[in-house]
Amino acid sequence: MAETKVEIFDTTLRDGEQTPGLSFTLDEKIEIAKALDELEVDVIEAGFPASSPDELNAVREITRASETATCGLARVKRGDIDAALESEVDIIHLFASTSDIQIKKSMRMTKDEIIERSVDSVKAVVDEGKYCLFSPMDATRTDPDYLVAISQAVEEAGADMINIPDTVGVAWPKEMEEMTALVHENVEIPLSVHCHNDYGMAVANSLASVDAGVTQIQVTVNGIGERAGNAALEETVMNVDRMEDAYTDIAKDHIFSTSKLIERLSGLQLPPTKPVVGRNAFSHESGIHAAGVIADQNTFEPGLMNPETVGHRRRFIVGKHAGRQGLTKVLTEAGLDPTEEEVKGILEKVKGISNNGKKLSEADLYAIAETELGKPEGGELVDLDQVFVMTANKATPTATITAEINGKTKTESGNGVGPVDAVFKAMKRIIGDEKKIEISEFRMDAITGGSDAVADVFVTLEDEHGVAAEARGAGDDIVIASVEALLNAVNLLARKGRTNGSG
Ligand code: KIV
Ligand code: ZN
Repeated sequence: MAETKVEIFDTTLRDGEQTPGLSFTLDEKIEIAKALDELEVDVIEAGFPASSPDELNAVREITRASETATCGLARVKRGDIDAALESEVDIIHLFASTSDIQIKKSMRMTKDEIIERSVDSVKAVVDEGKYCLFSPMDATRTDPDYLVAISQAVEEAGADMINIPDTVGVAWPKEMEEMTALVHENVEIPLSVHCHNDYGMAVANSLASVDAGVTQIQVTVNGIGERAGNAALEETVMNVDRMEDAYTDIAKDHIFSTSKLIERLSGLQLPPTKPVVGRNAFSHESGIHAAGVIADQNTFEPGLMNPETVGHRRRFIVGKHAGRQGLTKVLTEAGLDPTEEEVKGILEKVKGISNNGKKLSEADLYAIAETELGKPEGGELVDLDQVFVMTANKATPTATITAEINGKTKTESGNGVGPVDAVFKAMKRIIGDEKKIEISEFRMDAITGGSDAVADVFVTLEDEHGVAAEARGAGDDIVIASVEALLNAVNLLARKGRTNGSG
């Protein structure tokens, strides 16, 4: 059977930004659009131009900056269409409610009036020479005969594509397949779907519609969006990838970095267990799993999808459930060469600490290993002497660090958007050309409640060769805890670099 290309229509900047409490700045929107270009999505829905002059301007700026076809949302109103035209988008996405409940309580029109307004709007878009996508909103709760009638009417008026939204996320895969098949049988133009995740079925429903002939799926990165969000791009793409007769053009190795970008800019932290992009998606701790993956990664991973496929990385976690093989792998990657007896001793200590409920970072493990193996040759790259951080109302936060690096004392300062950023900039200057470092993850958990809470800071640094090191710092001063985590991560990264010859 010939393979079908499934287009990926990304609506992170429109439906994604409708996540309660979320608002991207213009610069952030442009950064996201450029990341979506690199991810090679087929369409970027850049926003809803009629919603405000700022939104119109943002959609226009995104359209000018992006290499991908852009789309603007519009109600079936002349004013909305004019705003979308002004925003210079390539595609205008018209929508009108078609379910009885939305017609009665939201649109307040008759069904015939909705068809009439939709047809007039489609004609207006087409007359302007724009590609017209039409959504019968709440399609999955719409009377099927009416859904077919409005679909045929907008097709006749010149619409280029019809999108079937499961607006409140209530469909089952079988229903979604039947509903999209029904529209597919009654119109000739291509179909798209837009599934919300209220019952956690958005990806399954989107995929079911591909079996019925749908050739475009609307998604958001990390599944952000109204209420429980939309079909997640990363899960949708990786599932289409394993369908026998369908594919996408997504640059899959950019999936993880794009997810991280959206996580950072949206402030919506992903659960570690999130499929494909979660911190634990390719992490192994239990002895049996780690040993199995070391022998052959397919033993306890899906096989078709490796961490490298999506730009993620595999991690062996040392904690309560760890076994000797996983621990040996982690220690040798950090430059140590323990005997079997030493591994046994370290494992006992690790389990003792983990059984008391403490989370261990890679650097903690290394410190435990040192008590068993002694300090490795080469010592630490950076020995901290003093750190001075200044933040005041309206003043730019500044950090000054004095440290010994390779036996020489050095003092450097950095400014940042906050004190932690300032510390990072100063630390980067201290390290200078010794190593190029970037923070790939920064997490802070409050261990106790109240304003005197103890914070646990986890930092993952990556060098220019993609070597990563994770370390932790804890304390009631979040800046000092961050400095500690950063310093431990820098030193661990330097050791790992020495071991694998990249440092
Ligand atoms: O959820 C929805 O129905 C929408 C439409 C505008 C397509 O976001
Ligand atoms: Zn939606």
